[in-house]
Amino acid sequence: MAIIYHEKSQTFHLFNAEISYVFTILQNHQLGQLYFGKRIHDREDFAYLLELKARPMSACAFEGDRNFSLEHIKQEYPSYGTGDMRYPAFTILQENGSRISDFVYSGHTIKNGKPALDWLPATYAEECVLISTCNRTEVYTYVEQENEAETLEVYLQDSVSGTKLILRYTIFKDFPVITRNVRFEQNVDTKVCLERAMSLSLDLPDMNYEMIELTGAWSRERYVETRKLAHGIQAVYSMRGCSSANYNPFIALKRPETTENSGEVIGFSLIYSGNFLAQAEVDTYNITRVTIGIHPENFSWQLEKGDSFETPEAVMVYSKDGLNGMSHIFHRLYQSRLARGKWRDLERPILINNWEATYFDFNESKILEIAECAKQLGIELFVLDDGWFGKRNDDTSSLGDWYVNLEKLPNGVSGLEKQIEKLGMKFGLWIEPEMINKESKLYKEHADWVLNTPNRNMSHGRNQFVLDFSREDVVDGIYDQLENVFQDAPISYVKWDMNRSMTEVYSQAASPEEQGTIMHKYILGVYRLYEKLIARFPDILFESCASGGSRFDPGMLYYAPQCWTSDDTDAVERLKIQYGTSMVYPLSSMGAHVSAVPNHQLLRNTSLAMRGNVAYFGAFGYELDITKLKEEEKEVIKEQVAFMKQYRKLLQYGTFYRLSSPFEGNVTAWMVVDKEQKTALVGYYRILQRVNDAYHRIKLQGLNKDYCYYVTVLEEDIYGDELMNIGLVVSDASSGENHEKYDGTNGDFQSRIYKLTAVCDE
Ligand code: GLA
Repeated sequence: MAIIYHEKSQTFHLFNAEISYVFTILQNHQLGQLYFGKRIHDREDFAYLLELKARPMSACAFEGDRNFSLEHIKQEYPSYGTGDMRYPAFTILQENGSRISDFVYSGHTIKNGKPALDWLPATYAEECVLISTCNRTEVYTYVEQENEAETLEVYLQDSVSGTKLILRYTIFKDFPVITRNVRFEQNVDTKVCLERAMSLSLDLPDMNYEMIELTGAWSRERYVETRKLAHGIQAVYSMRGCSSANYNPFIALKRPETTENSGEVIGFSLIYSGNFLAQAEVDTYNITRVTIGIHPENFSWQLEKGDSFETPEAVMVYSKDGLNGMSHIFHRLYQSRLARGKWRDLERPILINNWEATYFDFNESKILEIAECAKQLGIELFVLDDGWFGKRNDDTSSLGDWYVNLEKLPNGVSGLEKQIEKLGMKFGLWIEPEMINKESKLYKEHADWVLNTPNRNMSHGRNQFVLDFSREDVVDGIYDQLENVFQDAPISYVKWDMNRSMTEVYSQAASPEEQGTIMHKYILGVYRLYEKLIARFPDILFESCASGGSRFDPGMLYYAPQCWTSDDTDAVERLKIQYGTSMVYPLSSMGAHVSAVPNHQLLRNTSLAMRGNVAYFGAFGYELDITKLKEEEKEVIKEQVAFMKQYRKLLQYGTFYRLSSPFEGNVTAWMVVDKEQKTALVGYYRILQRVNDAYHRIKLQGLNKDYCYYVTVLEEDIYGDELMNIGLVVSDASSGENHEKYDGTNGDFQSRIYKLTAVCDE
């Protein structure tokens, strides 16, 4: 890994074993982009890649020179209005009303390591070091690791506005990844207003790509959608105040021939949880400009002397090994260099959550009844969901009143927690700290804490309104309440929910000029509350949630290493949701629960086995009234819990491969393989039973071709090369005569887990 600056040609080359990123200082002293992709040789000068050519009818920067037009130059961080006719990376409104700028190179530094960003989540560089071995248990710690990454900061200055721009690039030694972020600083007396400040802009030399995005809505989050790039703009975005179920802050550009397992793809991801824009603009010369960052709608940020603005971090991943290759890089990076804290590398507790078991209708004895039963089945953590606080018996009241409802829980949270702990289980709690109901003590005391525009209607979502987290006093007020609850009883886990999109956003504590900062400051407030709670309660495992999976984004993973993937717990629907989510996010981050049938979201009946087989591939748990189950069903759950305990390290931290897509056919398949390639689990799911069906095989991935594996279900020893090149034979009863009677292994909604164990090498 290195970052090299070639003095003579004024060219930067960032590279590691797998990738190269090259840009140069142009003759107008702005920055030109030259290459991002597979590692290439380093050399003094790549200027030929600029392809400076006189073009008819173009606006040119230098009088008398028709070769230099910004319209035709691939750039690093472009602006609008001086020749480039495409969408810019940033816009700065100046005191005289002009938005023209000219940021020219004024210097750079190259540093070891990776600096942290102020109050913003970001990837980091560190090393895991063994510090002792005690009773055969290895104890590790994390130390900041300078050699793991290098960071380049390029300084640009606009002499008229007096604004300084710092473009930051980090390259990691062991990841084909470049991270980027931008900082604006105002060091002189003039004022400017940032109207657009994207985290990344990348000009690619052609348009022969397909764009992959993750789209959806409540209960059908992150469906994979692919479209061919066309001239003009293709974009995904959120203007809801959260990253949203509708689009994820991610896009990927893949070559048309790229598959799950081969071919070139570049993934772009934004480490941010608020409004975002991710867009690919293709100009009519077939240059593709990718930009990703905070959505410019409803955003403006004044900078006076001494002020600065830092954008969120954007991550670019290059894979030559297809979409699975890209996902492996994201998984590894986000699991080990974005998620933090005690739970980062730990197997996640198997939990039971009472939401779908009781909704708001519970009392202490009902909760204990569920917990006792769960304990007998081997479940490790009980999570008390919505309804334990204030006077909350439905969704009309009490958000904001974070003290226990003694009518439901006469011994308080701590009394309940003690009894659950006595059972030998851990205890977790649901909160929704960013919200308020008008029907609450907090609203009576602090109506001004709510975000709403004066003299305008206040739209509600699920009867709730949004607290003004752009204000420190509001965040601190909520922190004080939560601290009281958390210190009262040893809470092991917190589910942090956020159940509405933001509307009529306006802070009563901010000036008119500051209103464009509120949506971003709100998210900074959310991050600050997380940071304060994590510092005070470092042992708590946080799971983020937002009406299910409406805030499943990398920003959240920095604080909460797992996220409730979707309110939709139907096993068939979950195949799509978990498949799509796995494009970027690791299995350890995906909350996945077995729930009741008929399923509460879409009334479908699937077997307990099918529900378990899907939920295993995530942070596993249950969400149903297990006290109402038959004894045989409890026995199945006991077996599932035991299976998960045995394999959860592999399931949550192994290498995950998507094999067969739920978006393309009747069969979904995926697998995880351990680092040593000795053990693998294949999940196979067939939605509808066919009659007299064709034969089926699924080619596996990631095995050692020379290892022979014992394959359960088939009960056969098979070599890795056979399984990867010929495939796993998955034909079943439907390939032939279907059994007359339903015996549990045929019919609709079938699934199987194949376990592969290496029995010999060669
Ligand atoms: C959201 C969450 C659910 C549950 C409810 C409680 O919908 O996604 O899991 O916690 O809120 O109100």
